[in-house]
Amino acid sequence: MPTIKEILNTMEYGPAPESTKEAQAWLEQHGRAFGLFIDNQWSEPGELFASTNPADAAKLADLTQATGSDVDRAVAAARAAQPGWQALGGHGRAKVMYSLARLMQKHARLFAVLETLDNGKTIRETRDVDLPLVARHFYYHAGWAQLQAEEFADYRAVGVVGQIVPWNFPLLMLSWKIAPAMAAGNTIVFKPAEFTSLTAMLFAEICVQAGVPAGVVNIVTGDGRVGEAIVNHPGIDKLAFTGSTEVGRLIRIATAGSGKKLSLELGGKSPFIVFDDADLDAAVEGLVDSIWFNQGQVCCAGSRLLVQESVQDKFLAKLRARMDKLTLGSPLDKSMDIGALVDPVQQQRIAGLVESARAEGCEVYQPKCEIPANGSWFPPTLITGASTSAAVAQAEIFGPVLVAMSFRTPPEAVQLANNTVYGLAACVWTENISLALDVAPQIKAGVVWINTANQFDAACGFGGYRESGFGREGGREGMYEYLTAKSEDARPATPVVEAKAKAKASAPAAGGAFAIDRTAKLYIGGKQARPDGAYSRAIHGADGAFIGEVGEGNRKDIRNAVEAAHKAGGWAKATSHNRAQVLYYIAENLAARGEEFAARIAAMTGSRNAEKEVQASIERLFYYAAWADKYDGLAHQPPMHGITVALNEPVGVIGIVCPNESPLLGFISLVAPAIALGNRVVVVPSEAHPLSATDLYQVFDTSDLPDGVVNIVTGSADELARTLATHSDIDAVWRHDGSAEGCAEVERLSAASLKRTWVGGAKGRDWYSTAQSGGRAVLAHASQVKNVWIPYGV
Ligand code: NAI
Repeated sequence: MPTIKEILNTMEYGPAPESTKEAQAWLEQHGRAFGLFIDNQWSEPGELFASTNPADAAKLADLTQATGSDVDRAVAAARAAQPGWQALGGHGRAKVMYSLARLMQKHARLFAVLETLDNGKTIRETRDVDLPLVARHFYYHAGWAQLQAEEFADYRAVGVVGQIVPWNFPLLMLSWKIAPAMAAGNTIVFKPAEFTSLTAMLFAEICVQAGVPAGVVNIVTGDGRVGEAIVNHPGIDKLAFTGSTEVGRLIRIATAGSGKKLSLELGGKSPFIVFDDADLDAAVEGLVDSIWFNQGQVCCAGSRLLVQESVQDKFLAKLRARMDKLTLGSPLDKSMDIGALVDPVQQQRIAGLVESARAEGCEVYQPKCEIPANGSWFPPTLITGASTSAAVAQAEIFGPVLVAMSFRTPPEAVQLANNTVYGLAACVWTENISLALDVAPQIKAGVVWINTANQFDAACGFGGYRESGFGREGGREGMYEYLTAKSEDARPATPVVEAKAKAKASAPAAGGAFAIDRTAKLYIGGKQARPDGAYSRAIHGADGAFIGEVGEGNRKDIRNAVEAAHKAGGWAKATSHNRAQVLYYIAENLAARGEEFAARIAAMTGSRNAEKEVQASIERLFYYAAWADKYDGLAHQPPMHGITVALNEPVGVIGIVCPNESPLLGFISLVAPAIALGNRVVVVPSEAHPLSATDLYQVFDTSDLPDGVVNIVTGSADELARTLATHSDIDAVWRHDGSAEGCAEVERLSAASLKRTWVGGAKGRDWYSTAQSGGRAVLAHASQVKNVWIPYGV
């Protein structure tokens, strides 16, 4: 028997196992075999697959591999239930969701044990992190249901949503998906990951107890084939996916042109930056929470340690000492830090990556710990000496493996932090608040934790930049993912007359390409530029008469324009007051030449409303100038001692293909919100009527608009849109020229670098209507939310 002094010296605890009695009894009660949960009914178990405990490889239960017709039934049930669920009203839905939250709390221990059995994560985490957050998510969103009519009055539910989640946080991801969808009035077809479906089965039972009406929540189990059936189902209006970037890409391609709303929460390779003035001991603890939480199977794990060179040795020594103390073993033992990996497949994948790093000469540090004989395990691992381009430094390992690198200066830290295709999260450790708040906005990531790590809350949006996906979960912004602006329903069909004009402009007989003479040039980097191909196209008026020529832009012109846009990065840092001033100035200079612009519109389109269009364009510039310094972020107060600042950041460089109708107003309605929020744009003006845009060059030149903020490339909308969608340095593409096929192509091609897209499809837009062509919905397309967590330090 050790003395108390000895215990305090070694800090070793005896085992403290959690009982599995209730969870095993619950599994027994179901005969260890589950059917599907559709329309509040359980189907008989069908073709089965096993779910095992990754900590000892023992089988827990069998689950049903859903078929295509099961998915059909689930979608049909959800469709039938949606109007009733909507009609229940905000308060009605809030009551049901509140009841769900209460029941989740009541059964928290059973859920936690079942999750640990199924996933292998420690009971400490399921009990103290996952379950409290799950309940919080339902409470918080019950609140949004209650306030929906007031706070989202101009929006309606999207309809039937398909939701697919991974295995790393089975129940937490379920709540992140289902709670906002329910709150907004949608009905749901949900698919858990095939490794970890059991807590979703228990949740289905809780739904019945909580009084969730039949068909509101439908749960189908199975592998990726079931996911595909949901993705491709025509009855699904919106898809929300969390998982690997590869599958996210497939889903983007599969849904292109379908009109389905889409949010993707994908992989990451998040940096954990330690400056030399950081509280190093606290940073070590933060790192433990960042990379060894859930065995590193966390999309936002701080898997790349960037430590300032001057403290590198000291910090790594502390880190190794801490790693030596991490306990690995039965996830049901309350004193374990590290549990089992979800499946041997993951264990082999991780081991392969670590071995390849070793073979490349990296140093691999692993504490001596006893690995249990059965199940899938991997010790905490630190890799040093990897080059920035090494596979372990770039690929998402999704395991307890940390790769450490050093930097000398803050700019170098930012550069290394951003040296990844991902952009999910980052941690910044420093005692210098100025440095922290200087670095946070420069990191391309959806979440930045200052002096903390892996904090989550329902009130604070979560989601990525770049190839980490798009869309947010949590907070007000998360609600918009499950809502559609009512104004969208009234969008008109694209006017046929404009389509004819477009055909005429590009028909070779009327205006085939010919060697360049005097022509409206392109506008790149604040200068008029001849098109690279030295070709132009003729533009004819509504009466068929030749009225001018514009340059025929090509791939190289777009490349030059994108380069110019990147050079104009200072625009993102300009004050919003300054950006508003420039927009007002553009409006003023446009007004001074109003008659000339009206005459041009009339000549191109035959419109009798040309003057009205110019006036509306001036007003739209005022409108977005007004918004420029009012589209502020939020300061959330999550349940912690601190704040989370939600910043609305620009998306970056946006490629825009403008509509043919209202060629000036359409152009302004898309360009103005983008630049108001600090984006730079590469714009393809109306293919049929581009001269209003080329006439704007002089307006821009005299309005203090910095060079490269707006770049204009005229020519074929299809060809240029294709180039925009495939260009790797463009962050988003908007296409609104009414070409359904063209829009689908933009969505499909954007999948390669997971750009954000905003496409109009076959429908047009009333460009005069602020409801359809303005408002927060448009500003949301022009921005992305970064949540910066700032705990108070005392
Ligand atoms: P995955 O992306 O294949 O699976 C996630 C979910 O998507 C599962 O429910 C799966 O059944 C479903 N799915 C698979 N193929 C599908 C398809 N074609 N269409 C629709 N749904 C489909 O992830 P997986 O295979 O479980 O893990 C592989 C790697 O992905 C991990 O090692 C990790 O690197 C990464 N990953 C990243 C996650 C994140 O949150 N960022 C979560 C899970 C995995």
